[in-house]
Amino acid sequence: MGAILNSDSWLSVWQRKGREAAGKAEYSTSDLLAADGFDGAMAQTSSEAQQHIAGIISSGLGLRPGMRVLEVGCGAGAVLSLLRNTQATFTGVDYSAPHIEIARSVLPETEFHVSEASSLPFSDNAFDAVFSYGVFLYFPDLPYAESVLNELLRVAEPSAPVMILDIPDAAKREACEEARRAAGASLNPPHCYYPKHFFADFAAARGRRSVVTDQAVPGYGNSRFRFNVLLQD
Ligand SMILES: C[S@@+](CC[C@H](N)C(=O)[O-])C[C@H]1O[C@@H](n2cnc3c(N)ncnc32)[C@H](O)[C@@H]1O
Repeated sequence: MGAILNSDSWLSVWQRKGREAAGKAEYSTSDLLAADGFDGAMAQTSSEAQQHIAGIISSGLGLRPGMRVLEVGCGAGAVLSLLRNTQATFTGVDYSAPHIEIARSVLPETEFHVSEASSLPFSDNAFDAVFSYGVFLYFPDLPYAESVLNELLRVAEPSAPVMILDIPDAAKREACEEARRAAGASLNPPHCYYPKHFFADFAAARGRRSVVTDQAVPGYGNSRFRFNVLLQD
């Protein structure tokens, strides 16, 4: 019950944020980042940080023109707009309809769907790469996260890379919450924290390799408490 309430309250937080950002004739990268929550205390991202994030995703997934790539939890399309110049063929999914409306206006060439991450509206093996940036922290619990990971693998080609980024590290929860409190960042609804072995165990059970790296986005306050995971064939 608690988990469902937690999940529901994040959905309403995001829908409200999307509604507040809606209705502009044009959106700058800063507008998109703000709509996607990268405007609060500890969440500011400079252009150096943005290039760093785009570089990690682009090299981790091996993005190239025409590659079919899914972003799960794409928000208003901030990260997708940073990856535009790779000329991959992107699809975005988010459970917040107001965010998807903004994303459609900003990236008209991209296909978008309003959908829950745990139930994706795609057939098996539909993508050459899948990623999710800054989304797993809003999940209600680890079983939900595992259902999403299964879904990401289902829609990805068997050899496709799957990348999860900006994951709160359970080993650093106390320090993270202390830093967030001191910076005046919100602690409610709570974020979901993950032990690194959760992803390694998930990958090993499915015969996949996992590469876990500490996040190092320059100037991004949450970064020192977060990590990234690349699941590979
Ligand atoms: C911090 S924003 C990140 C958006 C985008 N990835 C970016 O980096 O700009 C988190 C997004 O995850 C979405 N989200 C959170 N939980 C989700 C879920 N269970 N299913 C689908 N989308 C979800 C929210 O609606 C929000 O747009």
